[in-house]
Amino acid sequence: MNHSVIEKNIGLMAVLIALVISVAGLVQIVPMLFLAETNEPLEGVEPYAPLEFAGRDIYVREGCYNCHSQMIRPFRAETERYGHYSLAGEFVYDRPFQWGSKRTGPDLARVGGRYTDLWHEIHLLNPRDVVPESNMPSYPWLAERTLDGETVARRMRAQRRWLNVPYTDEQLEQAAGVVDGKTEMEAIIAYLQSLGTAVERTR
Ligand code: HEC
Repeated sequence: MNHSVIEKNIGLMAVLIALVISVAGLVQIVPMLFLAETNEPLEGVEPYAPLEFAGRDIYVREGCYNCHSQMIRPFRAETERYGHYSLAGEFVYDRPFQWGSKRTGPDLARVGGRYTDLWHEIHLLNPRDVVPESNMPSYPWLAERTLDGETVARRMRAQRRWLNVPYTDEQLEQAAGVVDGKTEMEAIIAYLQSLGTAVERTR
């Protein structure tokens, strides 16, 4: 076809541009849906334990993602600071994922094990007690509020039912009892301590 026909017909041009972008997009995206590397958990990656899972919901509720990403990019400046860059297989049970890109605070993808539980507790109660120049908000209510086991168990059952997270019947039966009455502080710390621990840190 004569190219000038397309150039002079804006409607046809728009349709063809849309077609090119759609096909090119699908060629990039569709293979990812079937690649084991992006679909299957890395060795050592397990679904969140009940207390970690509850903590993750609190992390989302409090909007921690507004200041913290959980995705280490494969650049020297990042891996020197945070550890091994993030791998797709680490996030298969993260629904919804917390990657983000806003970094008012540091990336948290591998914060697990970096501090003690007590450090986190003091930090969350009032960040300035451990980092004087911090502008992170205080979260004192986390220490006062307790978890409802049945709510957590129900959320976990939904993860298995609708998102295929492979919790066993036994794990789901025990979930409520494990977390019931624990504080939100204990839960969010358990979650933070689990982050990025499946892959050995190379720092
Ligand atoms: C307004 C932005 C902001 C929000 C919201 C925020 N943080 Fe932070 N966070 C920071 C900043 C800045 C730092 C660095 C200074 C410090 O350690 O307090 C930080 C540091 C941290 C650290 C230490 C990381 C490291 O590697 O040293 C953890 C853990 C953390 N935040 C967890 C949380 C959690 C959990 C929440 C939600 C309950 C949260 N943050 C909400 C800004 C924020």
